[in-house]
Order: sequence, then structure tokens, then C-alpha cells
Amino acid sequence: MTYLTVYTDGDAPDTLLRTEDGAEIATALKEVGVRLRHWQTVDGLDDAGPDEIMNAYREEVARVVAEEGYVFVDVAQLRPDDSPDWPERARAARAKFLAEHTHDDDEVRFFAGGSGIFYLHIDGKVHAVLCEAGDLLSVPAGTTHWFDMGTHPDFTAIRFFHDDDGWIGDFTGDPIASRIPDFDTITAGRAQG
Ligand SMILES: [Fe+2]
Repeated sequence: MTYLTVYTDGDAPDTLLRTEDGAEIATALKEVGVRLRHWQTVDGLDDAGPDEIMNAYREEVARVVAEEGYVFVDVAQLRPDDSPDWPERARAARAKFLAEHTHDDDEVRFFAGGSGIFYLHIDGKVHAVLCEAGDLLSVPAGTTHWFDMGTHPDFTAIRFFHDDDGWIGDFTGDPIASRIPDFDTITAGRAQG
């Protein structure tokens, strides 16, 4: 289930909203031009790899591709494992998009499993959207944002692109991400209610 927290973007951010209410979340995101949709999740995919994930959601993927003109779709997956290099891989993956940036393309992600938080910095506020299985988030091109997968990353996401020449982040240099509660903090707070 999606979980939204909205903060002011000043030096000492205030929390303006904290909600799991689907309608409230959709309205808040719509106000800032971000679209959140939901797909019925497919059961039995806990240990599924990218090909199996793509196959399980092929009809929904095809519909979005046809409607919105994406030319490249892939699956990004990060699951914890026992390998000695996992902690370093997890750290490096998390660090990649943890600072505020923009892209020339929309950032469109369907979470088939696990979770991650998109932080959308728009009009003096930060919308922290915790996405979980079933959530399809569309962040328009040019939106200042960052993404936190937490210190123990675990997610499987289908990604949609309008071109296939890679995914480049244009970093703004604004240190705002360091002032806003991170993935671990938000998820711990949510668990406490
Ligand atoms: Fe991004």
C-alpha cells in the first residue's frame, strides 16, 4: 500500500501530511502533476526473476506502452543475498540517485515487489511517495526528485523509457535530500503508527 508524507522544503522541514489513504494520496499527487495508478498484483512471484516478472505483467505493460509511447521497458531488481559483496552493492545502488536530480524523460516505475521512496520536490514541498507492490508511479520529465531504496534494498520494478540510450540523472547540487527523513526513518516511523 502506498504511503505518502509531505514536507516543507526549508532548512528545518515540517511534516504537512502523512497518509495511507489512496484517494488522499492520488489527490495530493495530482496537484503536483504526478500520476499514481495501481495494478492488480500477480501472486507467486516472490522469487521471480526479471523475465518471469515481465511475463506476468505483459498485458498491463503492453497497454501502457501503447497508450504512452514507451519504446523500452525493463525490470530493475535488487534482492538481498548472502554474497560477501552484497553490502557494497547495496550501498552503491542506493547512493546512485540519492541526491536531487532531474531526467529528460519521464520516470515511470511499476513496483512488482519490495519498496522504495520517490521524493518529489515541487513548489516548495517534498512529496515522499513510498511505493509498494502494485504501485505504478509516473514522474514527469524535468521534475526535481531523488530516490531512496533504504540501507537494505529490496525491490523489483518495471521501468518504462521513451528512448533506449540509458538513464542519465542531471544532478541539481541542492543538498535538500540530506534534510528530509530517509527511507529507513520514514518506514520505521510508519511501523510505529
Ligand atoms: Fe530519477
